[in-house]
Formats: sequence, structure tokens, C-alpha cells
Amino acid sequence: MCKRCKHVNSQPLNTPTKSERMERIVEIEKVSFESEYEKSLRPTSFEDYIGQEKIKKNLNVFIKAAQKRLECLDHILFFGPPGLGKTTLAHIISNEMNANIKITAAPMIEKSGDLAAILTNLQEGDILFIDEIHRLSPAIEEILYPAMEDFRLDIIIGSGPAAQTIKIDLPRFTLIGATTRAGMISSPLRDRFGMHFRLQFYTKEELALIITKASHKLEKICLQDAAVEMARRSRGTPRIALRLLKRIRDYADVVDEEQINKERAQYGLNELGVNDLGFDELDLKYLELLLKTKGRPLGLSTIAAALSEDEGTIEDVIEPYLLANSYIERTARGRIASPKTYELFRLTPPTLQSTLFEDNA
Ligand SMILES: Nc1ncnc2c1ncn2[C@@H]1O[C@H](COP(=O)(O)OP(=O)(O)OP(=O)(O)O)[C@@H](O)[C@H]1O
Ligand SMILES: [Mg+2]
Repeated sequence: MCKRCKHVNSQPLNTPTKSERMERIVEIEKVSFESEYEKSLRPTSFEDYIGQEKIKKNLNVFIKAAQKRLECLDHILFFGPPGLGKTTLAHIISNEMNANIKITAAPMIEKSGDLAAILTNLQEGDILFIDEIHRLSPAIEEILYPAMEDFRLDIIIGSGPAAQTIKIDLPRFTLIGATTRAGMISSPLRDRFGMHFRLQFYTKEELALIITKASHKLEKICLQDAAVEMARRSRGTPRIALRLLKRIRDYADVVDEEQINKERAQYGLNELGVNDLGFDELDLKYLELLLKTKGRPLGLSTIAAALSEDEGTIEDVIEPYLLANSYIERTARGRIASPKTYELFRLTPPTLQSTLFEDNA
């Protein structure tokens, strides 16, 4: 069962199965056997939720205002790379609003009847969480529009001149949509969300705090310098930080160490093939590929073919962190390595002239 198919066993379109993907220690996708563990470490209140201060502050205000007016919260859209805490925020909102949360993912809603069934089963004040909302089909989106705006379901029965529209009133609910691809959401759908929040990568300090707190929950204390070491190599992502913590805990357990210290963390991280900057083998292959072109831009499909990965993984999993930290640049003609990357690999950045020369050759 893939991360996205939390509730059913079918495989959504275009989503590679786990066996099709290269196993990555800094992998951002959740895998089913870890979902229970993720659940246990998932913060349940804003106090527990580290970082994303601006989002928390705004959400707190909007939640209080809605509660004061005894109203439902407006629809919310979260976007940002995988593992940054979108689903977690949806759960926290449902806790704070004292509301039930129904969770689904867009690839699961194949027919209009699927969405109609979900919507008609909602109770007043419920929260409906749709993950990967950019993958809703246009036909399903059409049904969602009146449901979001007027809390009404328009169902067409029959076809041709005999077709009839039935209108069903829905209880007032809050839709929370999450997506890793903000650019792929149609603008009519995006505009129907009253609040938009973009999650940011976490700082080293925030990740170290997340690791320390989680280590207490796991009853295996992680010392401060060990937490910082893991945080530094977590690509700004809590899911990766927690996964690294879990693996390092294994290394410490095997040698009967009561606490996780910096040496054990360093040893474990090196064994796991996570380098000093949090890059794993796939990141390094990606960067080496760009460096080899000596400044000539590479298209997404070329990179995907060269790395034997699908384009979605490259765009969603590998690139966001590299872009956010200026290791790569995305130009109209493709991806290039930044001067920072050339420096990192102790290479001389190509001059503009040499790039042009190569292009014309
Ligand atoms: N701010 C945070 N503080 C503490 N833990 C966090 C925070 N954000 C995320 N986590 C932890 O990281 C893990 C991943 O978070 P979550 O599932 O919410 O990510 P996501 O953005 O929904 O990812 P995806 O796009 O893959 O669905 C969870 O186990 C959660 O406990
Ligand atoms: Mg999620």
C-alpha cells in the first residue's frame, strides 16, 4: 500500500510502487509500515508543532475568530514539499476546532459518486482533508465548487434532454487541501480556498528540537549535539529528521548505549550514506549529472532518464531542497548547477562564454 492510498489497496495512476523506487534513507515518501510510528510522533497541538511560526499564528487567529462566531473555519489550502507537516497541521486544526476529520486523497476519488458519498456523509462542522488535491479530475472539481461555495451538491441524473439536476444541501464543513505541487492546482479551485499557506523548510535549530522531543517520546534520549548533527543532515524536513532518529536509535540500541551521542549519530549517518549536507546517493548523482554538462541546462525528462527515476520524484522529492538552498537553478532552458555547487565539488564554474560556445557547437 502506498502512502497516498491510505485507505484502499489500489495503486493511483503515475505513482510508482515502492519496489519501483530507489530506497533512500532521506526518502520523503511515507511508507505504510512506518505510519503507526509517524502517528505516535505526530504533534497534536500547536504548542507541540515546532516552527512555521507565521502559519501557526495566523491559524490560531482564524480558529479563534471562527469559534467566537460559532462558525465553520473557511477552507484551507496547504502547499509545500513532502514531509513538512501539512497533514499534521490538518489534524491539529481538527483538534483545536473540536471537529471530526475525514481523510482522503485525490487519486482515491475517481468517480463523481465517490465524492458525493464523502460529502453527504459529512456532519455539520466536520473537516474534510483531501491530500494531493492537485490530482482531482476536472469533472470532480466541478462538483466540489458548489459544495465549497454554497454547501450544495448538484447531481446530474440521466443524459441528454432527459437529464435532471438534483440539488442536495450539505452541512457546513471545512475543506483542507494539501498539495506538493501548488502550480498544478487549477485557479478556480485555488480561488475557492479562503486561506493559502505555503510551508517552509525547517531550520537546523527547529529540526534539532523536533528530534529531541521525539527522542523523549521514543524513550531514547538524544543528546543536543547528536540532535544537531542529525538536524543538519535532514534536508530541512521533519519526516527525514524523525526517520534518521529512528535509524540512529537502532545503532545505539545494538551496542547497548543508553543515550544517543554525537559519535553514534555521526557513525550511523555515515553508515546510512547520508553526507554532511544531508545529500544521499541520488542527490549526489543528480548534482554530478548537472556538473558534467558544464553549465549547459538539462531538461527534466533528460535528468529523469539519466537517473532512471520518474519526473514526479525528481520535481517533488529531490529538487525543492536543492532549489531552496541554491544548489541548483531552474532556467527557462532547463536545470543548471549553481556556483555554490561547483564550489562544493571544488570545480571552477563555467563562464557564460564557454556555455554559449558549447550550446552553439
Ligand atoms: N512542525 C513539526 N513539528 C514536529 N513534527 C513534525 C512537524 N511537521 C511534521 N512533523 C512530523 O513529520 C512527519 C511528516 O509530517 P506530515 O505527514 O504532516 O507531512 P506532509 O507535509 O503531510 O507530507 P506529505 O506531503 O508527504 O503528505 C510526521 O510524522 C510529523 O510528526
Ligand atoms: Mg501529508
